[in-house]
Amino acid sequence: MSTIEIRKVTKQFGSFTAVKDADLKVDAGEVVCLLGPSGCGKTTTLRMIAGLERATSGDVIIAGQRMNELSPQKRNIAMVFQFYALYPALTVGQNIAMPLHAERLSKAEADQRVMKVARIMHLDTVLDRMPNQISEGEKQRLAVARAIVRDPNCFLFDEPLSRLDVELRHSMRGQIKEVLQGLSKATVIVTHDQLEALTMANRIAIMKDGLIEQVGTPHEVFAKPANVFVASFIGTPQMNLVEADLRSFGNGMARVVLAGQEVEIGANAAVSTLKPSKIMIGIRPRAFTAVQEKASDTIGAQAELIEPMGAETLIHARTAAGGDIRVVVPREKRVKVGEALNLRPDPGQTHFFGEDGKAVRA
Ligand SMILES: Nc1ncnc2c1ncn2[C@@H]1O[C@H](COP(=O)(O)OP(=O)(O)O)[C@@H](O)[C@H]1O
Ligand SMILES: [Mg+2]
Repeated sequence: MSTIEIRKVTKQFGSFTAVKDADLKVDAGEVVCLLGPSGCGKTTTLRMIAGLERATSGDVIIAGQRMNELSPQKRNIAMVFQFYALYPALTVGQNIAMPLHAERLSKAEADQRVMKVARIMHLDTVLDRMPNQISEGEKQRLAVARAIVRDPNCFLFDEPLSRLDVELRHSMRGQIKEVLQGLSKATVIVTHDQLEALTMANRIAIMKDGLIEQVGTPHEVFAKPANVFVASFIGTPQMNLVEADLRSFGNGMARVVLAGQEVEIGANAAVSTLKPSKIMIGIRPRAFTAVQEKASDTIGAQAELIEPMGAETLIHARTAAGGDIRVVVPREKRVKVGEALNLRPDPGQTHFFGEDGKAVRA
């Protein structure tokens, strides 16, 4: 069974801890993205799974077997790096066949495997070309073809699309996802690009400073971020995170003081467990409705900067207390700079965080 599991995996480089107590399980046929800012420990985690880096402590388990001491070759893992190297003097077909040499297949068997993979990766018409005679997208597909030709235990990708231009990256995401879905292997993809993670992954593990902050489906990490970091990291434009004091809670509404205003905001009963001061409230820019009348559940602010984004408009607004609020409205909603806005948060889309930064949920 193709599975990957890491248990309490830690990596120290001297006194510096690059990865701390990482737990993650990837099932057969599942794609998990490791997502986080540069330097948070994604590549180090992947390299420990591959055996290119030895875990300082913890266990690396592949296909049910503990592999901490095994060399990369013995782990039977296919890895695609950001800066993959193709053999320039070999044809596309020969490049795909390279990883098969260790397996001592007959020529007919090897040719068959190459052809099968070439078809999957849409390279069957360019098999006789040299690497410098194919496009960037085809080169990327070739790198993936070489990885999947060997029938490995699992796949590891490190920022596989980051050197492609935007348009190509977009189409490759879909193509790689489709290929992976057909292979029933455990796959880990490292990326710092949330759109890549949200579109390619079955689940996302979000990392910061060597720690896995949350693991969940793309929907879960967006709709139920576990803490302030995940809330601010996932979603564009960024979630508004405003410090507030909690006055009371009842009937699904919390009375809070936020940006100098007392307002009622949709909440769940778990907010009663929070210490009333210095809570953090998170509201996504698309979770507001701008209404005519000021009300007990609206936040007053003034439009400061208007950014058209095509079908939508991003408004940077400022509260009387000087706080910034980002709001996204449909393009039809005309807002002028200086206009007073009454912003009503959707009661079902508010997030409350305690002083420790952790979300409270029902
Ligand atoms: N061989 C190494 N020796 C010392 N520090 C390292 C080494 N490899 C990585 N690091 C450090 O560990 C941290 C995590 O690195 P890395 O896993 O490459 O991050 P990411 O892939 O998320 O950008 C960084 O601060 C990096 O400088
Ligand atoms: Mg990296």
